[in-house]
Amino acid sequence: MDYPQALIDTAALQHNLNIVRKKAPHSKVIGIIKADGYGHGIVEVAKSLIKGVDSFGVARLQEGIHLRQDGIHCPIILLSGISNKADLEHAATHNLNLVIHHITQLELLQQVVLPNPISVWVKVDTGMHRLGFPPQQIHEVITLLRNCSSVLSIIGLMSHFANADKFSDSFTLTQLEIFNHLKINLPRSFANSAAIMIYPQSQLDWVRPGLMLYGISPFKDSTGSELNLKSVMTLKSRLIAIQHLHTGDKVGYDSTWICPKSMPVGIVALGYGDGYPRHIQNETPMLVNGAFVPIIGRISMDMITLDLRTQPNATVGDPVIAWGAGLPIERIAHRAGTIPYELVCQVTPRVPRVLL
Ligand SMILES: Cc1ncc(COP(=O)(O)O)c(C=O)c1O
Repeated sequence: MDYPQALIDTAALQHNLNIVRKKAPHSKVIGIIKADGYGHGIVEVAKSLIKGVDSFGVARLQEGIHLRQDGIHCPIILLSGISNKADLEHAATHNLNLVIHHITQLELLQQVVLPNPISVWVKVDTGMHRLGFPPQQIHEVITLLRNCSSVLSIIGLMSHFANADKFSDSFTLTQLEIFNHLKINLPRSFANSAAIMIYPQSQLDWVRPGLMLYGISPFKDSTGSELNLKSVMTLKSRLIAIQHLHTGDKVGYDSTWICPKSMPVGIVALGYGDGYPRHIQNETPMLVNGAFVPIIGRISMDMITLDLRTQPNATVGDPVIAWGAGLPIERIAHRAGTIPYELVCQVTPRVPRVLL
C-alpha cells in the first residue's frame, strides 16, 4: 500500500459519538460530515455513523448527492441550502433537507413547483451575521413557508454560535437568549461540539457535533484525549531515505538547516502536496518508531526532513506519524498557526483514507 496514508479509526468514531450521546442524552444528533467528513472520507464516515445518528449535515448539494449515490438513506441537511432552481430541484429529487437562511431561497421555493416537496430548517441569525434571518422576521418566514406548496414540512429552527469555544462567553449567552426568546413551537438546534461540552443549556432538541466526532478538541488549550475523545485520523508515512551528513552540510530547499554536527537525517514521504502545512514551525515533532523527533529544514511537496540524532537506529521503511495516535493534532495545528479543522480538511486526495 502507498504511503502516506490517513488511517481512519472507525471504532474511535463510534466512541466519540457515544460521548456526544452521553453529554447530550436528550437531544437528537445531526452528525456534521461536510468537507469530506472533515477530510476523513465522507462516505466512510457516514457508513460508520449512520446507525447512531438521526441525521447528517453537509454544506453543499454535491455532498448530499454524493451520499445518496453511495446508498446513505437517512435524513441529510444541506446547511448552506441552495441558490438556484436547478439545485433546488436536485435537492428535492434526492430528498435532501434544506436550511433556508435567506429571502432569495424563500422566493425560489415560492416560484418553483416541486413534484416532491421538500422539508426545511429555518436559520435564525442570533448575532454571528453569517447566515440566517433576523429574529424579528422569523414569524413571517415561517408563515410564508407554511403556505408554500413546495415545502413538505418545517423540521425546526437552527442557529449557530460564533464563540462557543470560549468559556462563560457573554456573547454566546446572548445568542442563546435571543434564540430561546423566539415564541415559535418548533424543534430547535444550536449546539456544535464546543457548545455541547461547555454550554449544555444550548443542547435543545438537536445537537450538531462535527469536530468532536473526529476525536478533536474544539478548545485551544486541550487535546481530544483530555476530553475523553479518541483521535480518528492518524496521518502516517514512512522513512524513504536516511542521509548521514556532516557538520556544515545543508538540508533541503533554501538550505535553511545546516547540520551543527555529524548526524543522520531522515526523509519522510509526506509533504505539502499531501496537506502537511508548509509553514509549520521548525522542530515540530513527528513520531518515528514511537519516539518524537523534530522536523528540520523546509517542508517540500512530497518530503519532510527529520533530525534523527535521537533515533540513530531508525532505518528506511520505518513508520512515521505526523499526527493522530500518540501525537495530538491540536499540538501540530498550534505549531502551524492554524486550527485542527484546517489540517484534517486539507489532507489531499492523493492520500488514501484507510479504514481500520
Ligand atoms: C452550521 C454548523 N453546525 C455545526 C457545525 C459543527 O461544528 P463543530 O465542528 O465545531 O462541532 C458546523 C461546522 O462548522 C456548522 O457550520
